[in-house]
Amino acid sequence: MTKLINGKEISASYRAELKEKIASLPVRPGLAVVLVGNDPASQVYVRNKSRACEEVGIYSEKYTLPEETTREQLLSLIAQLNESPAIHGILVQLPLPRHLDPEEVILAIDPRKDVDAFHPVNVGKIMIGNFDFLPCTPAGVMEMLRRSGIDPAGKECVVIGRSNIVGKPMAMLLLHANATVTVCHSKTRDLAAVCRRADILVSAVGKPRFVTADMVKEGAVVIDVGTNRDENGKLIGDVDFDAVSQKTSYISPVPGGVGPMTITMLLRNTVTAAEKIAAEQAKQG
Ligand code: GUN
Repeated sequence: MTKLINGKEISASYRAELKEKIASLPVRPGLAVVLVGNDPASQVYVRNKSRACEEVGIYSEKYTLPEETTREQLLSLIAQLNESPAIHGILVQLPLPRHLDPEEVILAIDPRKDVDAFHPVNVGKIMIGNFDFLPCTPAGVMEMLRRSGIDPAGKECVVIGRSNIVGKPMAMLLLHANATVTVCHSKTRDLAAVCRRADILVSAVGKPRFVTADMVKEGAVVIDVGTNRDENGKLIGDVDFDAVSQKTSYISPVPGGVGPMTITMLLRNTVTAAEKIAAEQAKQG
């Protein structure tokens, strides 16, 4: 019988711990979430992030800007948030409208407030293993494994997908945890055979039912990072859950798997940022 890795439950206990920690901090952590445009999925994510902040006692500011926001207007808001003493974390929801360059926008965020860990300074720190923040989704996956008693050390881990947000940092975190890591993508030859080697398989593809039972080794751990909508608008992952779960030792569902953990790790990063900034200020007297 496979065990379910319940991200909702793990999140709830992690958030309870964070709430306690926040109550004991000398400074109230603050997060600014910036949304540009009308992407409906992004609107839901941003709302969930604000709610989660409230739940644990993080101060939050939400900026909903119109689709036609100019580069100058967005950069000016980021500059203002970089300077704001109440704000320790800044998150600009991606994707941005086409006329705005995400790289330029990410570069404008003070790396100390970059709670997504998208700024090249933070990406570089993750690469060398000396980091302040971890990108939220891969960090959430690592925490799900840890709290389920699954140690990646020495294991064959296969990550499907090579995005900057999930696939690449996921591979790096598994490597830091001493796994043997393979990253697969659209040009991988015989993807199913590579996936069948995996003791731990992480799918971040964005295609419903992409991972089928023939791609999974008996007894493997499968983590589904996909957030897709089916023909009825229902949220589903990348994994053909009913068939794949017949073979796994552990599997994370969608919904109720990685999704809640991603937001929980954002809260954790905001707390870390607040602690670091407060410690720096104390040092400066
Ligand atoms: N869009 C999809 N995932 C993310 C995320 O983790 N952070 C931001 N800023 N935008 C996203």
